[in-house]
Amino acid sequence: MSLEKKPKKKMSFSHAIFEKNPIILLVGILITVSIGGLVEIAPLFYLENTIEKVKGMRPYTPLELAGRNVYIREGCYNCHSQMIRSTRDEVERYGHYSLAAESMYDHPFQWGSKRTGPDLARVGNKYSDEWHREHMNDPRAVVPESIMPGYPFLAKADLDFNLISYDLKANQMVGVPYSEAQITYAIEDLKAQLDEDSDDYDAFMERYPTAQVRDFDGNPNKISELDALIAYMQMLGTLVDFSIYNAKENNR
Ligand code: HEC
Repeated sequence: MSLEKKPKKKMSFSHAIFEKNPIILLVGILITVSIGGLVEIAPLFYLENTIEKVKGMRPYTPLELAGRNVYIREGCYNCHSQMIRSTRDEVERYGHYSLAAESMYDHPFQWGSKRTGPDLARVGNKYSDEWHREHMNDPRAVVPESIMPGYPFLAKADLDFNLISYDLKANQMVGVPYSEAQITYAIEDLKAQLDEDSDDYDAFMERYPTAQVRDFDGNPNKISELDALIAYMQMLGTLVDFSIYNAKENNR
């Protein structure tokens, strides 16, 4: 090996610009990374099958939507997730893992990030309304070791539903396929879901097939926040009929 000094290679000009100027380097990195990001993310907005269409999913009824608002207002998502992962322990405990389509009408989604309490994605029809009433009033009355706070005031609070049609409209603007009739008759529909004998029952069932209709809070004389919250919880995870999908999977 000769000790002769090698002639220094001249750095190409374009490269030197990036190496000598951190701001330009940063901009260069940003451009490169965002091209990579765009290539990964942009197709998801155009692909038809990003969210697989699933039979049974329908927009929430006005009462369920109002219950969902109570759920968000009370911060239930701080302790409860609504997203069952596809791992075996979760599927055995909670049921079929959550599908993307099951959150497609959630604005904002309620996947949550913490489970102080159990996942609620499939809590619908797991307990009776009466169980929910007692549990909301005083969780320890039905689950002695529970650390969940009680929400006894929900049964006493009148549900404020005067503006519910605007709520449907706002959801429509972000892509939930509410029809004009569903928006116009939101208040009638909200009341109809609480009373099987109401004149609006048939029209309501036509607009929201598979909706559960009854007085949820046990007090027919009052439309309470508890009515809405229980209606919402009893619907969670019940819209998609998994017997079809499980049969399909077993036949594979
Ligand atoms: C501080 C955390 C916390 C908050 C906030 C909270 N929960 Fe819970 N929740 C729990 C815990 C812990 C359990 C399990 C014990 C029990 O059943 O009470 C539970 C259980 C439940 C269950 C029974 C689930 C099952 O499958 O057995 C329901 C339904 C429920 N919560 C609904 C709610 C609703 C609705 C709200 C908001 C109004 C709420 N929770 C707020 C902690 C919380």
